[in-house]
This record gives sequence, C-alpha cells and structure tokens, in this order.
Amino acid sequence: MEDSPPSQQQRDAIPVESFEREKLSSVANVVGLQIKPQDISSALKVLKNFLLNQARQPNVVDATNGEANRSKILLLSPEHVKSSVLEELPDACRGFVKEKDGKLVHYTLQHSYSHFTYDEALKKLLPQDVEVPSSFETIGHVAHLNLRENQEAYRLIIAQVMVDKYSAIKTVVNKLGNITNEFRVFQMEVLADKITNQSVPRLVKEGDAALVGDVSCGQTCDRDPKETCVKQSGCIFKMNFGEVYWNSRLDGEHKRLVASFSSDDEVWDMFAGIGPFSVPAAKHHSCQVYANDLNPRSKFYLEENCRLNKVDALVHTSCMCARAFLASRVSQCSEKAPRGKGKLHCIMNLPASAPVKCREEFMDAFREKFDPAIWKPEDLPLVHLYAFHKSDDAAICEQEIMRRAESSLGCRIPNVRDVAPKKLMLCCSFRLPAEAAYMREEGERDHKRAKVEG
Ligand SMILES: C[S@@+](CC[C@H](N)C(=O)[O-])C[C@H]1O[C@@H](n2cnc3c(N)ncnc32)[C@H](O)[C@@H]1O
Repeated sequence: MEDSPPSQQQRDAIPVESFEREKLSSVANVVGLQIKPQDISSALKVLKNFLLNQARQPNVVDATNGEANRSKILLLSPEHVKSSVLEELPDACRGFVKEKDGKLVHYTLQHSYSHFTYDEALKKLLPQDVEVPSSFETIGHVAHLNLRENQEAYRLIIAQVMVDKYSAIKTVVNKLGNITNEFRVFQMEVLADKITNQSVPRLVKEGDAALVGDVSCGQTCDRDPKETCVKQSGCIFKMNFGEVYWNSRLDGEHKRLVASFSSDDEVWDMFAGIGPFSVPAAKHHSCQVYANDLNPRSKFYLEENCRLNKVDALVHTSCMCARAFLASRVSQCSEKAPRGKGKLHCIMNLPASAPVKCREEFMDAFREKFDPAIWKPEDLPLVHLYAFHKSDDAAICEQEIMRRAESSLGCRIPNVRDVAPKKLMLCCSFRLPAEAAYMREEGERDHKRAKVEG
C-alpha cells in the first residue's frame, strides 16, 4: 500500500527528535547499607520495612568503592533512613548493622528515561493540560490510538514512548475520523514503525485497501508494519489492520455465538471479515462454513486464517455482495436444504449503519428466495442479525431492530429466540419466517403486502 505525502496535519506534529530523553534524567541521594554478600538475604528479611522499593531499581546493588566483589549495598528508603549516622537509624536497623559489621554509605541513584514507565515518561514530557493516552487497543503488535485534539501535536512523542516502553508494540497507528467506507476500515496514520523503521507520520488513506493493485491475487505484506496476528477463540488471526475490519472488543460476542453452534450445523457468514465467527465454528464444531466478504483483502486474510487454523477444507470462501452470496447459496441448495440433524445459521454482522442498512439492503434479500418444496419451515435459516445500540435500553433497541427487520421482510417475526445485549451492539437471533421466505405467486404477494402494511 502506498502512503501518501504529508498532510497539513502531519506537518503540525511535534517531531520526535525534539524529544530529548536525557532531559528526563535526574539524580537522587539515598543511604545504603554496605554488607557482605552472604548477609544479604538475612538483611532483606530484617530490614524489609526500610528498603527503598522503587520501581525498576533493584534494592541490592554492587558496592561502588572498589569493593564490588566483597560487598553489596542494600538501598534504604529515604523516608525511614535520612542520614548515614548509625545512631539515627531505626532500632531494628541499628542492631542488625552492628551485628553484621555493616557500614552506612551514601549512594547516588541515576534516574534516566529507561527507569520510567510509559505513564511516568509521558507525564514528564507532555504539557500538564495534555492527558497521557491511557486506553488503547492492541491488535498483535499494533497499538491503535484514538487521540484527542489536544494530544494530536504530541502524537509522535506519544507513539515513540509507547514502542520504547511496551516491547510487544512495534507499530502505533492513530485513527483519523470515523469509518465511512463499506469495508469498515478507518483512515489512519502510522505514528511509530519498528518493523520497517520508515519515516513517520505516514497517512494510510481511506479506501486504499480497495485501490491496492491486483488485490484479488492476494499477497501478504511481510514488511507492512500494519500486518499482525492475534489469538482469539483458540484460533490465530492474521490481518493487515490498515486493510480489513477488526475489533478485538468483539471477542466475547464471537465466542458467544460460536458456542451456540453444534457440529451438524452449517454456517453462512454473510459479512465474514477475516473469519472470527467462521474459523472457530469450523475449528471447534467442524461446521461446514460458507464465509463471504465484499472486501478482497478480507477474503485474502480469511483464506490465510483458514490455512493457519487448518480448517480450509471446511470453510468455503467468496468475495461478493452479501445479497448475491445469499442468492447463490440458496440456488446451490436446489435439491435439498443444507440440514441434516443440524441448523443453518446466517450471520449478518454489518452493524455499521444497521439496522438501516440491514433493513434496506440486506434483510429483504431473504424475501421469497426459498422454495417450499425444498425448504421445510424448520430448515429455514436461523438469522443472527447485529445492530449497534441506539439507546441505553436494550429492550428498546431490540424492538427497534425487530421492527425494521419485519418491515424489510414484509412480515412479523414471531419467535425471537435470543437477544444478546452486549455493551457494543445487539444481536437478535430468529428463525426466518416461512411467510417471508417462501417464493410466491404474483397475486399472492400483493395480497400479503397489503396485509402487512395494513
Ligand atoms: C462489521 S464488519 C464484521 C466482520 C466480521 N464479522 C467481524 O466480526 O470481525 C462487516 C464486514 O462486512 C463487509 N461488507 C461490507 N459490505 C458488504 C456487502 N455488501 N457484502 C458483503 N460484505 C460486506 C466489510 O468488508 C466487513 O468486513
């Protein structure tokens, strides 16, 4: 993927070179107890309440006065031990020092950038009114920030400290604006890149996924810092975070739905992404899965993930509009519904602008597609329809999504089996009503419509 020339916003970033790590250096003087190495373990026990106990600073250090081989220094807390005068020591210390023939010495603590945590370093580096970004999502080695306006100017420094302080993070990206494209991929800027060490910031343009050369032939980009791997539901998922949809917070929902499947079930994953429902359904229940996504890069990683998780024989992939996918699945079942003892699950996970999108573009895709000679009512799919919460009240959300689904299907949905009101979104599961699903004659259809609309 080509990165574009710097934008105005990029020029406004305070350069990372202006971040002088040495400026964070400081020194502090403390008192230490110099004793023989063999007395250290008993000293640690006896003086446990008087130790320095400072993060990333060992309590025991080598003696500095040329006696490193013969003695060690146990660093003491300045709160309890203010001077090296033996008589001023707390009683418990004094007795021990005398008994072990120890010596109180001054010790200079050098504090540098390497001693600070992410939080401590940024608190020192950022102006007081700029908050240290504390909640960020990590997707494998990629950290995904969603910076506030007043943090933007410091984003390169924030990202640099992040990769310096968290060894697992190699790439930092910042989300720019809201998702507006159909692949649910947001525009982002690469702020730190320890994979290729190319210059930052680099803008990754919205829609680039669709524009990358011949994406259909599919290539992994070993040197793309946004390509990463995560583990979820006992499976490995590889993806390029700049090209496909992924949200780690949906982990629980992926697991919940897949746990409701059984080995005889078949799954039609209409908006499959890189496979967080499809791959575990095949891996954990050996379900036959048909997984579809319109984004060619999602399909590419979906196939890669099927191979990585050894379920490529069970997961059949496609890259088309969900509407065409559904029509093609139904037409391929021209002799028999795909149901032995199991159920047929249709996952509709495109909650972005849903339920509007599902209603207007997708739920009606089920209408009158199923031949009653092939599909018994109990063979019809169990639909799992996702929508974002539009209200804090889950019951209101459920009513709203079902009302829209019904209006799109043109009939009532009598049995909503299950509603999973997760924090992020809502999943309504219901059997597709025969009334909407079955093919019908022209006259019958008009009569039905009049009845529903009435
Ligand atoms: C919200 S994501 C969900 C992906 C996956 N199910 C997950 O949980 O990570 C929706 C997916 O639908 C795909 N998509 C968008 N419009 C589509 C369409 N008309 N037909 C099929 N897939 C579509 C996007 O590329 C995206 O991967």
